[in-house]
Amino acid sequence: MSIPDPLLSVEGIEVRYGAATALRAANLSIRPGQLVAVIGNNGAGKTSLMRGLTGLVRPSAGRVMFKGEDTTRLAAHAKVARGLVMVPEGRMLFPDQSVEDNLILGAYVHGGLKRLEAKRNLERSLTLFPRLRERLQQPAGSMSGGEQQMLAIARGLMTEPDLLVIDELSLGLAPKIVEQLIGILRDLNRQGLSILLVEQLASYALAITDYAYVVAHGHVEREGPSAVLVRDPDVMAAFLGKKKAA
Ligand SMILES: Nc1ncnc2c1ncn2[C@@H]1O[C@H](COP(=O)(O)OP(=O)(O)O)[C@@H](O)[C@H]1O
Ligand SMILES: [Mg+2]
Repeated sequence: MSIPDPLLSVEGIEVRYGAATALRAANLSIRPGQLVAVIGNNGAGKTSLMRGLTGLVRPSAGRVMFKGEDTTRLAAHAKVARGLVMVPEGRMLFPDQSVEDNLILGAYVHGGLKRLEAKRNLERSLTLFPRLRERLQQPAGSMSGGEQQMLAIARGLMTEPDLLVIDELSLGLAPKIVEQLIGILRDLNRQGLSILLVEQLASYALAITDYAYVVAHGHVEREGPSAVLVRDPDVMAAFLGKKKAA
């Protein structure tokens, strides 16, 4: 019997903004092929955890291991090159640029895939998201929120990630669109992509993941199989706002 080594292992990281500590002593681990959720209310520290592990902010304590390598001190672009890619909260597209240019920029973000690979990955992204193919020359900012989220995910896939981190998939989107996007994430996961899904809508996230982490007050307060957390009255009450987690 062998347990595969973790793809990503976050060990006791702390994230600070100046004098303010947004996240302390956070642990998180994801094995190859897993679909894992991070849930927590607004301001809990989820994005700070993602910034710390992707290198957008350098953790002030702790360690981030990715594919067996200590990546704690690497900048975000260096981690992208190693296969750790984030779809940021709010999507961060270039609204005036075309859909195609947004995708191509995604491919070149770390000094680039070869032209041929970029073309192949563009084709794969457009097969996955036919709506983007129809809108290839349209400015990204003219599309609906759901289409923009599709574009942000497609851009992330352009660099052939081993781990895709998605911060707030559902932000500002109608439930029908969220369900459609979740279906796509499930398919990608079945094809072998490891995914870390950050979501305020806990019930959505817990329904499709195997395992989840609950962030509250700048700390990972709970973790466990999603099927267990979803039945935990304390966890769910915290998200319904009926009861504070601490
Ligand atoms: N760039 C920043 N500078 C200062 N404080 C920040 C910054 N980003 C987030 N924070 C603070 O850190 C805490 C955690 O925020 P965040 O990680 O964005 O939470 P979440 O993603 O769970 O909503 C909040 O109190 C927030 O105000
Ligand atoms: Mg956030």
